[in-house]
Amino acid sequence: MGKIKVKALRGVNLTINSGDYVSIMGPSGSGKSTLLHLMGALDKPSSGKILIDGIDVSRLKSNRLALLRRKKIGFVFQQFHLLQRLTALENVELPLWFAGVNKTMRTRRAKKLLERVGLGSGIYHRPGELSGGEMQMVSIARALANNPEIILADEPTGDMDSVSGKVTMEMLEELNSGGKTLVVVTHDREFGARAKRRIKIMDGIIEQEDTEPLSSPDRKPARNQ
Ligand SMILES: Nc1ncnc2c1ncn2[C@@H]1O[C@H](COP(=O)(O)OP(=O)(O)OP(=O)(O)O)[C@@H](O)[C@H]1O
Ligand SMILES: [Mg+2]
Repeated sequence: MGKIKVKALRGVNLTINSGDYVSIMGPSGSGKSTLLHLMGALDKPSSGKILIDGIDVSRLKSNRLALLRRKKIGFVFQQFHLLQRLTALENVELPLWFAGVNKTMRTRRAKKLLERVGLGSGIYHRPGELSGGEMQMVSIARALANNPEIILADEPTGDMDSVSGKVTMEMLEELNSGGKTLVVVTHDREFGARAKRRIKIMDGIIEQEDTEPLSSPDRKPARNQ
């Protein structure tokens, strides 16, 4: 930030295995988005390494990096980053276009994904004509377009009402059950508690990691156990 150095993360050492379901929680400004951007190879660390399938992504050239991201990673941005001039449908089609999928197949897949995330009638609307929750749905559908092995979602339900939020989390969890790796940054305690690995971050440092399975995500934890 200009001449001021911001240490957003410090001494992070983390291994995420294929098929894991990890939640990352922590106060605002603690470094959650920074960590997720690094994991998704959207950012480069000032020191240290980031390995994806054994490849040090912090050293890859930008075109190789773009290819790796397109093939392997679906990223749901906290701020959506949808293209304002394109409709919801076109936004979801875009990564398919980059992957060389033909128009008919692109539209078919994008429509199916938008239906799956629950955006019914808004598919021909531009982001400016959608609510925050609806933009989030488009952003999730776009992240899933190329069927990525790894899904990194930054507050994917932050702007949704509770029903849509629950439906969205269940959909992401279903993808995880099917073998996809899922990392979710969330402020929602209930959603955070559902993950098999739960990471707490504070001032750029991983403070705590819980891996004990919770008996049931819907049940309140028993106090006297
Ligand atoms: N581009 C940037 N330039 C300078 N500082 C930044 C930049 N992006 C983030 N920071 C700082 O890095 C720290 C971590 O930010 P980050 O966005 O990762 O937090 P967060 O945990 O995702 O917060 P939130 O819950 O509000 O989304 C904060 O102190 C923030 O001000
Ligand atoms: Mg953030």
